[in-house]
Amino acid sequence: MNKRVAILISGGGSNMVSLVQSMTGDHPARPCVVVSNVPGAGGLAKAEGLGVPTACVDHKPFGKDRERFEKALNDVLHAHAPDIICLAGFMRILTPDFVAGWEGQMLNIHPSLLPLYKGLNTHARAIEAGDAQAGCTVHEVTAALDDGPILGQARVDIAPGDTPDTLAARILPFEHQLYPAALRRFANGERTPIYLG
Ligand code: GRF
Repeated sequence: MNKRVAILISGGGSNMVSLVQSMTGDHPARPCVVVSNVPGAGGLAKAEGLGVPTACVDHKPFGKDRERFEKALNDVLHAHAPDIICLAGFMRILTPDFVAGWEGQMLNIHPSLLPLYKGLNTHARAIEAGDAQAGCTVHEVTAALDDGPILGQARVDIAPGDTPDTLAARILPFEHQLYPAALRRFANGERTPIYLG
């Protein structure tokens, strides 16, 4: 029986597209819904074009009431009964209670070589630090931000003169390889990390 995968986005959804397009043939999972917290996010139209059900739970009307937003988000998610949730450019911080409700079922892709550079502006920080390499990490989501067990990483050299944008653009194709590979292993119950680049 295929695992059902919900994908949460906030923007263009290029990682979501890669994940959806990877779930074919003998892949043990299939996308069941794409949910955005941003109405009109570009990824919603892409998901519809790929034939994946979509939903939007706009976080703005909930203001600072994270719990009520997450209740509305969970109502949508549970209606689609996912086995796995993939955060893919989902830009809301989730409360420990929400994460606990999906313990062991939720993945995220973070644009750094965790545990380095948790949080935001990861590429700028790597460049600023004079690091030789940067990259991306797929990890299980736990209550602590960007901190769960690592499921995969891809490394990319930082080039002289790189800006955060040029570095991000060079890393993104690796994200599109890494996340589908990590999801397939996760859906197969494999937990040893995969390393690319
Ligand atoms: C990616 O850079 C990813 O590392 C980060 O947010 C961005 C999402 O881009 N989590 P997209 O919406 O998947 O194109």
